[in-house]
Amino acid sequence: MSLAPPLTATRFPTLPRFRTGKVRDVYDLGDTLLIVATDRISAFDYVLGSGIPDKGKVLTQLSAFWFARLTGVIPNHCVSVRVGEFPDTVRPYADDLSGRSMLVRKTAPIEIECVARGYLSGSGWKEYQQSGTVCGIPLPTGLRESDRLPQPIFTPATKASTGHDINIPEAEAVRILGDAALVRRLRETTVELYKQASAHAESKGIILADTKFEFGLDGAELLLIDEALTPDSSRFWPADQYAPGGPQPSYDKQFVRDYLEAIRWNKQPPVPSLPDDVVMKTRAKYLEAFERLTGHALSVGQT
Ligand SMILES: Nc1ncnc2c1ncn2[C@@H]1O[C@H](COP(=O)(O)OP(=O)(O)O)[C@@H](O)[C@H]1O
Ligand SMILES: [Mg+2]
Repeated sequence: MSLAPPLTATRFPTLPRFRTGKVRDVYDLGDTLLIVATDRISAFDYVLGSGIPDKGKVLTQLSAFWFARLTGVIPNHCVSVRVGEFPDTVRPYADDLSGRSMLVRKTAPIEIECVARGYLSGSGWKEYQQSGTVCGIPLPTGLRESDRLPQPIFTPATKASTGHDINIPEAEAVRILGDAALVRRLRETTVELYKQASAHAESKGIILADTKFEFGLDGAELLLIDEALTPDSSRFWPADQYAPGGPQPSYDKQFVRDYLEAIRWNKQPPVPSLPDDVVMKTRAKYLEAFERLTGHALSVGQT
């Protein structure tokens, strides 16, 4: 069987566009949104010149898996991932949408990113080296990069419309949202989602180092929105290679990062494309992560 080419852009002329992200194209259907995960891949904050075939299907179906698994913690925005259940207006685009799109309830997004960290990495490690804290939370001294934290912590960040999100103390989140009870609820929910997801991932040989959630309000109801617990919103590390004291290999993007380092890309445009073997090895990693975490194969056909 030959591999379908990657879907790197969508064009649905009869549907109003809500937003075009680095990876996902979102269409506005009124009370609902249609979130389409393309096969675009980003590294070092740029979308690369090559797509990874089926990556968007992995992202969508993995989010759907976690949403279903975690409804006991909080309800989510997912209405359906089956194109057959979508409104008639999107049916003309069924071929592109199949397996990679989610119909969701439109909410008023809460204007902070809710990050949970169980390990010391990325911006958390940077702050810790300077101040011994992450988002103002004091941590034990002597931790190494990638060390496991004594317990998972809530490290909120602003939603920057351009550039990097900025980590903020919880008190700043309270100031931004003006609702201390809401922030407490976001913290408790974020940490509980992380605990349940990381326990599951760990039982499958994958460390969930940290992850970002978004929440929204539909009237008074708080919902988990956006994508959840995908490689794009999380740091997944292969547990069998875990060696704290430095950065860890990425479960999904390591071949891409190694290639970009090897060609000495200066991390400025023009963005490179990826050779076929890097594309195929990366695709295999996404599929492997999906199969390990969900226990079943990706559905690549019609749904
Ligand atoms: N149920 C929802 N209701 C309203 N907005 C949502 C919902 N789910 C996701 N979003 C928003 O859709 C946008 C998706 O953009 P995204 O693909 O994440 O772009 P970026 O690459 O800039 O992060 C985000 O701003 C997210 O907050
Ligand atoms: Mg986003």
